Amino acid sequence: MNEDITTQRISEEDIQRQLRFCGEIRTLCQGRPEGPPLACVQTYGCQQNVADSQRIMGMLRDMGCAFTQDPYEADVVVLNTCAIRENAEKKVFGAVGQLVHAKEKNPDLLLCVCGCMAQQASVADKIKHSYRHVDLVFGPQALWKFPELLYETWRSKKRIFSIADERGAIAEGLPVVRESGIKAWVSIMYGCNNFCSYCIVPYVRGRERSRKVEDILAEVRSLAEAGYKEITLLGQNVNSYGKDLDKPMDFADLLQEIDKIPGDYLIRFMTSHPKDAGQKLFETMAACTHTARQLHLPVQSGSSRVLKAMNRGYTREQYLEKVRLARAAMPDLVLTSDIIIGFPGESEEEAMETVSLIEEVRYDALFTFIYSPRPGTPAAKLPDPVSRAEKQVWFDKLLDSQNRISGELHRAYTGRTVQVLVDGESGDATWPLSSRTHGGRLVHLKGDRALIGRYAQVRITGSNTWALFGEVL
Ligand code: 5AD
Ligand code: SF4
Repeated sequence: MNEDITTQRISEEDIQRQLRFCGEIRTLCQGRPEGPPLACVQTYGCQQNVADSQRIMGMLRDMGCAFTQDPYEADVVVLNTCAIRENAEKKVFGAVGQLVHAKEKNPDLLLCVCGCMAQQASVADKIKHSYRHVDLVFGPQALWKFPELLYETWRSKKRIFSIADERGAIAEGLPVVRESGIKAWVSIMYGCNNFCSYCIVPYVRGRERSRKVEDILAEVRSLAEAGYKEITLLGQNVNSYGKDLDKPMDFADLLQEIDKIPGDYLIRFMTSHPKDAGQKLFETMAACTHTARQLHLPVQSGSSRVLKAMNRGYTREQYLEKVRLARAAMPDLVLTSDIIIGFPGESEEEAMETVSLIEEVRYDALFTFIYSPRPGTPAAKLPDPVSRAEKQVWFDKLLDSQNRISGELHRAYTGRTVQVLVDGESGDATWPLSSRTHGGRLVHLKGDRALIGRYAQVRITGSNTWALFGEVL
């Protein structure tokens, strides 16, 4: 193992100290005439943030808090923020601005901003000077210290900013509140070392660091024993899992180890980087009985010139070869991707290369974005002469193609019988249940609520661009 990449682990003692702060707050709040303190946690952005919020809620629950969706009745509000695109940041600043009214109503309200936005010095500065009603700001690397930070903010009545630029460490043993007994998120690693030229993530989430295999296996085992049916392994780039561990181990090895855990559950994972995903991973996925035949393999662009400028580490042809290998190993693979249109300097011809790539690959679904400059990233310094209106035209062409392809692929399901996991209510009177195929496609169902949390055989009776419709057999 290379000393330079040795991952730091938060000691058991330090975690216990945080849990003692939870106990302290719980004791101080016990017997309040108005009942237990109420906490409101609002989450923006990706699944990693959802998983982080579940830890924040776990710590708040240990402090004796009950939960509310309404910030106006809360004693503590936590905004877990996202910095991936400018729009995400605008939404958060809007929400933070609005919360001044909640603070006016309840001057004792503790308002906390955390997550990827909070880690940026410019954002912390803006909050310090222009959003003076915010009490506590902390970045993703300081998440495990939340009980102590909250306690200090509360007792000292001073504003606290904990955004030291750290490479990050691993904290085990933090409590967690999961949203359902059906689906669970399990982080297997944190951070990113790739520095794609458009992306803010490596600057706010620190360097790649892997959890120990035994800690991941213990968590998955306890989830399987508790009856969870769908476990999603999370990391910014799961394919570089294990590079910083004492015992050599890669992501495919981890999948194999997890697969030995008995139980009636399905493993999904995200996100895979095409440069690090290969034959070993695809063969392992095909061989594992618990691993879903689903791969999210973000291509970002179909132009080799743009991919180089993005620092992605593969060409169009190399990407297409990986897709061919993955499909050869798993003919029923459900494949999805992320695309960025309008990277600085991208020409119309290059954008149309992306459209031709999606026509060639025929993804089941896409997550599509118009490039958004992120201050501090190399791409933000490049000349970007193409207007937003023109990028929108390219973007619309891409969407037209993908919508047609998704519609065609979905229509091909009609009449087939598939197994799904029924995961909740849809809110629709005609199709009251929502479910997912093994490949992760959404199926709206007619059927009994009692099926929620169970697998069911369904016949697909119809579809549209985004979903399938079916009846339980
Ligand atoms: N602008 C637009 N999209 C971005 N993404 C990441 N950074 C940017 C940016 N600056 C997209 C990528 C990534 C997904 C999570 O968000 O497609 O895969
Ligand atoms: Fe961002 Fe690239 Fe890392 Fe994904 S792999 S988080 S796009 S830098």
